[in-house]
Amino acid sequence: MALPANFLEELRARLPVAAVIGRTVKLSRSGRERKGCCPFHGEKTPSFYVYDDHYHCFGCGAHGDVITFTMKTGGLSFMEAVQDLAAQAGLEVPKPTPQAAAAEARRASLAEVLEAACREYQLWLWGQEGRAALAYLRGRGLQDETIRRFQLGWSGEGRGALAAALAGRGVSAAQLAEAGLMKASERGPVDMFFSRVMFPIRDRRGGLISFGGRIIGEGQPKYVNGPETALFAKRRALYGLSLARGAVRQGAALIVAEGYMDVIALAQAGFGGAVAPLGTALTEEHLETLWQISPEPVICFDGDAAGQRAALRAAELALAHLTPERSLKVLRLPPQDDPDSLIRRGGPAGFAAALAAAEPLAAALYALARAEMAGRTPEGIARFKDRLSALARAIPHKSLATEYWTALKTRFEAEFHPEWARRRMAGPGVAAPRRTGPPPPPEPGAADLRRARLMLAILLEFPALIPELEEAFSHVRLPPEDEPLRAAMHEFIAAPHGLDSGALLAHLGGLGLDGRAAAIRALAQRELRLLQGASPAEAARSWWSFYELMEFGVGMLRAECAEAEAAWLANPDDRAACDRLLRYRLLLTRAIANDAGA
Ligand code: UTP
Ligand code: MN
Repeated sequence: MALPANFLEELRARLPVAAVIGRTVKLSRSGRERKGCCPFHGEKTPSFYVYDDHYHCFGCGAHGDVITFTMKTGGLSFMEAVQDLAAQAGLEVPKPTPQAAAAEARRASLAEVLEAACREYQLWLWGQEGRAALAYLRGRGLQDETIRRFQLGWSGEGRGALAAALAGRGVSAAQLAEAGLMKASERGPVDMFFSRVMFPIRDRRGGLISFGGRIIGEGQPKYVNGPETALFAKRRALYGLSLARGAVRQGAALIVAEGYMDVIALAQAGFGGAVAPLGTALTEEHLETLWQISPEPVICFDGDAAGQRAALRAAELALAHLTPERSLKVLRLPPQDDPDSLIRRGGPAGFAAALAAAEPLAAALYALARAEMAGRTPEGIARFKDRLSALARAIPHKSLATEYWTALKTRFEAEFHPEWARRRMAGPGVAAPRRTGPPPPPEPGAADLRRARLMLAILLEFPALIPELEEAFSHVRLPPEDEPLRAAMHEFIAAPHGLDSGALLAHLGGLGLDGRAAAIRALAQRELRLLQGASPAEAARSWWSFYELMEFGVGMLRAECAEAEAAWLANPDDRAACDRLLRYRLLLTRAIANDAGA
């Protein structure tokens, strides 16, 4: 509902900011202003200033007027806050102005037009006309229940079918154009969507605001999204938002994916808190909306270079609004995946494992910025360090910015100057402490064991990769019953013969391990469809991407590197120590290169 502007003026005039805020925040006078401890971030020394008509926190950047303050502290919508404040001020919230009422009525009628179209599209999908479209959706793994829940439809072949179908309900072509369903052309108004699977787009409260349409199978453009209208603003809308809100309230993680199909596949797999922007980059308005629902949404964009770039941009955008209570997580996917494909490959359990390992923003920022780093020259490294420092400085919340800089710098030094980091830890003139024995390996979770078996499967299929991957594989915990396979593979590559899968299987058969090998291969056939027809290089990439998802990841290799280096420094003539260090360095570089999507 639109309010006359002078009403809000009146409301603000009657309720001085300091009076409203002073009820919940202890304020003391400081010159002409008042100040107190910011209610939006934990602080002990006041940096929250209240002026005549607004407040500003120099600690976290929170900024606004009485209405935003009431919204934020009360978790209220704009209208709810206005109603609340009006009651305090003894004002009646007025009926909307005639213009505002007319605009509101027009929006309501547009929504009705869209709802009518949505029903029509669904009717067509489930009828004769939509057979190919329905088969396409089922072929992509969508259950009928999912198709109905997301109200997917079929646009028909176009040529005015929608206008004809809705004319009977008094909907004009002009209204269809206003709703973004038709557009002008030389031949007069034509359908915006034809021969497309239709995805209704709803706002946070579930009101229909537009549609997206996907071509069946290959073709360009793959998706068409409705144009900007009185109802639909791409910079604000998030696909799946109305359903996701409910799911998040019931405990689901809020996940931001890139595409329509990701949202739907996630929801079908039990991750109901999924949303996606609509063919645009994530905006500040999107972030604001997300944070109203969850303090820590998980960004889960496609694993390809474009998706990772988009994730970095979203993370950078978030920095300016970060507080200890408002952050992001980032789930980086293997280069060939989007959430939809990962679920198809790894099932809901595989995605749940990946989600549980989503990185905190600081760690993800480092990795994403690292992936864009060009060249390991001193210049390149220095530029990268400057970039990290600029990222930390983009956070207005002072103590948080300091923490980010510390976190980023620690990672930077561990990667580029492990010797400095170690010396600092040890203190001046003191030798680096030697650990007595290796640290206890963490208990691997079920997802890690599953991954370990998939990695084993890749090695069974591509034995030529064993020599190259064996060292890294030795850190991977296998289910005890599969351990003999690892030992047998080690024996196999030591013998002088070709490294093909047939020979390896024969070798395993000779050791009575053919049953175990067959079980692993069956698992791979079910879950690694991707491997069919893959080249050894592609298989190695998949292998490394599983490795990367394992709990120890690059961090473990860094620790091993540091330890191997300390051992070698203590004993520079020891050839074995030198070899070990070189091997771990190589593994670390490879793992990091894989990290960078190389
Ligand atoms: P994707 O191509 O990754 O879409 O684009 P997707 O949802 O994974 O689609 P499938 O699985 O191939 O069917 C991500 C998003 O970018 C927008 C859409 O919003 C899409 O969901 N997009 C993509 C467009 O707007 N137009 C296009 O031609 C392609
Ligand atoms: Mn995609």
